Amino acid sequence: MAKSRSGVFEKEASELLNEFNASLVFDKKLYKEDIEGSLAHAAMLAKQGILTEDEAKSIADALKEVLKEIESGEFVFDIKDEDIHMAVEKRLSDIIGKEVGGRLHTARSRNDQVATDFKLYVQKNSLYLITLTAKLIETLLGKAKQNVDTLLPGMTHLQHAQPVNFAFHLLAYMCMFRRDIERLESSYKRNNLSPLGSAALAGTPYPIDRDKTAQTLGFDAPMSNATDGVSDRDFALEILFNISVLMMHISRLAEELILWSSAEFKFITLSDEYSTGSSIMPQKKNPDVPELLRGKTGRVYGNLIGLLTVLKGLPLAYNKDMQEDKEGVFDSVETAVICLKILNETLKTMSVNEDNMSKACAKGHLSATDLADYLVTHANIPFREAHFITGKAVAKAEEMGVDISQMSAHELQKIDSRIGCDVEQFLSLEASMNARTSYGGTAKSATLLQIKEMEKWLKGFR
Ligand code: ARG
Repeated sequence: MAKSRSGVFEKEASELLNEFNASLVFDKKLYKEDIEGSLAHAAMLAKQGILTEDEAKSIADALKEVLKEIESGEFVFDIKDEDIHMAVEKRLSDIIGKEVGGRLHTARSRNDQVATDFKLYVQKNSLYLITLTAKLIETLLGKAKQNVDTLLPGMTHLQHAQPVNFAFHLLAYMCMFRRDIERLESSYKRNNLSPLGSAALAGTPYPIDRDKTAQTLGFDAPMSNATDGVSDRDFALEILFNISVLMMHISRLAEELILWSSAEFKFITLSDEYSTGSSIMPQKKNPDVPELLRGKTGRVYGNLIGLLTVLKGLPLAYNKDMQEDKEGVFDSVETAVICLKILNETLKTMSVNEDNMSKACAKGHLSATDLADYLVTHANIPFREAHFITGKAVAKAEEMGVDISQMSAHELQKIDSRIGCDVEQFLSLEASMNARTSYGGTAKSATLLQIKEMEKWLKGFR
C-alpha cells in the first residue's frame, strides 16, 4: 500500500491511477531540495522538543544516506510512491524503521513541503541564471570594446537609417540583459519567504518555529499566511515570465546573427565550432545555433501560458492541478541555461567583418538626416523644409548613382543655394555617427561613456 493511503482505503490503487497521478518521473529532480527541507524541518522539531535529539539525529543521518543513494544512482524509484516526497520518506523508514522514520512528517504536509522544495529550486536557479546572464554581458562588453570604431548601418524597418558603431548596437542588447538580471533579482527578493510550516493549509497545533526553518533554508522570513503558503505559485510564474523576456531578447539577437551571417550581409562569420552543415549541399554552413535560440523561445512562452492557465480557476488552497506546475518550469530553466551558455560561446568565437559592415554604410544615404540637420543649424531653415530639401538631394544622388555622403558641395548647392561649401565634412559617415553626442547616442564619446557605465554596473553587481 502506498504511503499516502491511510486506513481509509480498502483496495489498492489501480495501476492506471498510479501512472496518472504520480509526479515522481519528473519531480525526482527536486530530491536535493526535498532532503534539504526535511533536514531543516527535523532539526527544528528537535529544537522545539517535538522530536527527541536522538530521533532527529537518526532521521538526519538516514536522510543523508538517502541523498547518497540517489546521487550514486543506487536509489530505486518506484512510481507507486507517487512523488519524490513519499519516495524519500519511504526509504528513510526502510533505513531507520517506521517508529522513528514515521515521525518526520509531524507538523508538516506535502502541501507545504512541495511548495518549499519547488521554491528552493526556483530561487537557486534564478541566481544561476543571473550569473550566466552576467557572463553574457561580459562577453558583449569585450566585443563592444573592440568595435567602438566599427561602422554599422543602423536600421529601422530593416532599412538603412543612420550610421552607428557596432559597440553601440551591442550596448542595446547589454541594456536588455541588464534588465533581465534586475527582474530576476527583484523576483528573488520578493519571493524569498518560506512556505514551510504552513502545513496542509491552516498551520499546525505543534509549537513549531517557522523563523528557524526559514533561516536554515536561506529564506528571509516565513510566509505570513498558511493558505497562501501552500497555494501561491507566483514565484514559478515570475521565473517563467522572467525567462520569457530573457529568451525574447536572446531571440532578437539570434535573429540578427542569422541575418548578419547570410551572404546578403556577411557582417559576421560564425565559427566552425558553432556552425552546422547541410546533409545535401556541401557548400553550406548553417546558423543552427541562433535558429534554435530563436525557436526555443516558443516553448518557453508556452510554459508561461500553460501555468497561468492551470492556476486561473483554482479555489484555495492546494489542488492537485498544481502538480502541473513543475515540468514547464524545469523545461524553461534548462532551456534558458543552455541557451545562455551556447549564445555566450557563439558570440565569443564569432568574427566581426568590419569592412563589410562599413561598406554597407555607403549604401542607403545614411547621412541624409545630417544634411537636414546641417540646413537647420547652418542656414536656420525649419526642420520640415530641410527634410524636404534633403529628399530632393537624395533623389539627385540616386539619379547620379552615388550615396549622399559622396556628393560634392557644388552638386548640393544646385539643389539649394543656402547650402555652404563646408557641407561635405558633415556628410561623411564617421562625422554623422560622431555628431550624435546626446546622452545615450552613438557618437564615439557617448558610446565610450555607455561602456564605462555598463562596466561599472557589472562590477557593482558582482
Ligand atoms: N506531488 C504533489 C505536487 O507536486 C505533491 C503535493 C501533494 N499534495 C496533496 N495534497 N496531494 O503537487
